[in-house]
Amino acid sequence: MQIGPYKLSSPFVLAPMTGVTDAPFRRLCRRFGAGMTTSEMTTADISLWQTPKSRRRLDLDLDAEPIVVQIAGSDPHQLATAAKACVERGAQIIDINMGCPAKKVCRKLAGSALLKNEPLVAEILQRVVAAVEVPVTLKMRTGWDPSYRNGVVVARIAEDSGIQALAIHGRTRECRYRGYAEFETIARIKDAVSIPVFANGDITTCEKSHEVLRLTNADGLMIGRGAQGRPWIFRELLHGVHGTGEFVPLDKNELRDIMLVHLKELHRFYGEATGVRVARKHLTWYCNNLDNAGEFRYQAVRVDSASEQLRLTKEYFDQQEESISIAA
Ligand SMILES: Cc1cc2nc3c(=O)[nH]c(=O)nc-3n(C[C@H](O)[C@H](O)[C@H](O)COP(=O)(O)O)c2cc1C
Repeated sequence: MQIGPYKLSSPFVLAPMTGVTDAPFRRLCRRFGAGMTTSEMTTADISLWQTPKSRRRLDLDLDAEPIVVQIAGSDPHQLATAAKACVERGAQIIDINMGCPAKKVCRKLAGSALLKNEPLVAEILQRVVAAVEVPVTLKMRTGWDPSYRNGVVVARIAEDSGIQALAIHGRTRECRYRGYAEFETIARIKDAVSIPVFANGDITTCEKSHEVLRLTNADGLMIGRGAQGRPWIFRELLHGVHGTGEFVPLDKNELRDIMLVHLKELHRFYGEATGVRVARKHLTWYCNNLDNAGEFRYQAVRVDSASEQLRLTKEYFDQQEESISIAA
């Protein structure tokens, strides 16, 4: 799959997730073969970029090529200015968020709220594409609500505006995260445009990835929550598509090392106090997939020091059988 000058090493990419897909997590997913990762959404209002949170979100050094930055906003001029500023900082692809249903974002008519206003969508996309030399991509939903699934219309507007790839979450804005993702609209969008399309929503296993590829004919799949606590899912999906022979699951030592490296990176990236706090949710997700992890999780999310978090993790693995099982 190709986006502008960038040939992706895998059709399976990591979905942007605010509060999750920070630079350490993106790097981990790349290690397991994610073909592309995207920064956490950044506001298009560059006057707010001086906060520690925004600075960290724009810390792009750890990303592998292509470096993708996602921006959100509703003012075409502001978005074009932000896109230019991201490129100056090293972004190689600009992704525009028209998928986020969060109230805070939608109240300002950004994120998925934009899908309701097709002329504004066109203006934003055209202004951003004209402002930068790098490829611009769009993350969207299948429409505004189930009675107004205008995903095909928006996708055509995007292609005509010079957008170079689409990622589509199979829910409308009104559906938020409820119910199951539907893939029929994604299939219709894929049929209607000739730019690459990533299908997104509820893809957590190889079986599901095959089903979604079959239903949508998409060029690639975007994985969000399925990668939480399971960054190795990208290796499994690649194996499921290209694999010959039996898949060798992670062993105990490999899993322990993944978690220890991830924790150390979080502690270093955020500093100890914040790093330990951020690590708690990742530990919880890892534990959801592990045997006998209740007590370990209970303790590890309560400690305040990096060294204790690492010690408890090592101790948990020391106590496990070699053949520790990881939930599929
Ligand atoms: C915690 C969380 C944060 C998210 N943040 C963003 C974001 O910043 N930008 C975006 O486009 N989508 C965001 N999303 C939506 C995901 O990218 C994805 O579209 C959605 O989770 C469906 O995919 P999944 O079922 O594979 O998780 C977020 C989702 C979650 C769960």
